[in-house]
Amino acid sequence: MTLPKTMRAVEISKPGGPEVLQLIEAPVPVPGPGQILIEVAYAGVNRPDALQRAGAYAPPPSASPLPGLEASGRVAALGPDVAGWKVGDAVCALLPGGGYAEYVVTPAAHALPVPAGMELREAACLPETCYTVWSNVFQRGGLKAGEVFLVHGGSSGIGTTAIQIASALGARVFTTAGSAEKCRVCEELGAEHAVNYREADFVEAVRAAGGADLILDMVGGDYIPRNVKALADDGRLVQIAFLSGPKVELNFAQVMTRRLTITGSTLRPQSDLAKARIAEDLRAHVWPLIEAGRVRVVMDSEYPLAEAAEAHRRIESSGHIGKIVLKVS
Ligand SMILES: NC(=O)c1ccc[n+]([C@@H]2O[C@H](COP(=O)([O-])OP(=O)(O)OC[C@H]3O[C@@H](n4cnc5c(N)ncnc54)[C@H](OP(=O)(O)O)[C@@H]3O)[C@@H](O)[C@H]2O)c1
Repeated sequence: MTLPKTMRAVEISKPGGPEVLQLIEAPVPVPGPGQILIEVAYAGVNRPDALQRAGAYAPPPSASPLPGLEASGRVAALGPDVAGWKVGDAVCALLPGGGYAEYVVTPAAHALPVPAGMELREAACLPETCYTVWSNVFQRGGLKAGEVFLVHGGSSGIGTTAIQIASALGARVFTTAGSAEKCRVCEELGAEHAVNYREADFVEAVRAAGGADLILDMVGGDYIPRNVKALADDGRLVQIAFLSGPKVELNFAQVMTRRLTITGSTLRPQSDLAKARIAEDLRAHVWPLIEAGRVRVVMDSEYPLAEAAEAHRRIESSGHIGKIVLKVS
């Protein structure tokens, strides 16, 4: 395959609103040792991309400054020391950055095959949410079959993925969302009870089921003390974002007397090895659920690469249900 020298890409011209996303010509990246070059078909759009655009989530020093944490497409070239992939393979991959472009490089160990029967459009939406959900809910949070699991933001990319994987693996799933329509979709995906948080109190709903063994939270703010109340004894709270802010007053006596665990993580700064281990787990435990039709991508909308700004307006409006993608080629 002959590769071009330059490609279309979207850059963050300066920190700011969606309008700072600009279409540019950029050099096609060259895969280094252990990396693959992907010709991107679709790129997933995630809330952290909007944070990066606003100047609140800097990429790690070695990552591309272009936005985009996940993509699907075909392997276009292999760097030195790559085993397991060949040029032309259909892949979806977690990226250190750079997904809003016609070509992107990533460690070969962070790519996964496109699940049998799935379109590239849907496959682009898998990596960021599956890696985040698996590492926080199962590796860090230790969710087991039969446990009560509460995930906030049930209609988000993360939420729709967490509801489906957790219920497929036997947990009782509770969730929160901001409208009756969002709650209906969450229950169709497998949630036992979706609480419209604008009308009802999630603490009461979850305590009526005996309390949550695990909570995955992206809201923070006043949800933090309410999450502590909603936890069962020995419960775990995993924090993955703070849409309502990270600071709060909390009585830690509850943590001690009820043996609670409060933890959290961000995916992007973790080591290549840690991400490769998550990929191995996903291939073993989650890809079979996708191929069996028990976990699917909930697709909200698709935009051309040149309209990345519109995609960011959509995700920041919170009007969406599920995932947003950019069509790149
Ligand atoms: N730690 C990590 O490694 C990691 C990785 C990926 C993503 N994340 C975080 O996980 C969250 C979900 O990501 P995503 O890409 O799935 O985003 P998303 O689809 O935009 O999800 C955010 C959802 O949260 C709900 N929400 C609840 N309270 C909110 C508030 N105060 N402000 C705005 N929205 C609020 C919104 O729905 P309703 O309010 O209508 O219910 C919205 O749809 C983001 O905060 C993201 O930064 C963390």
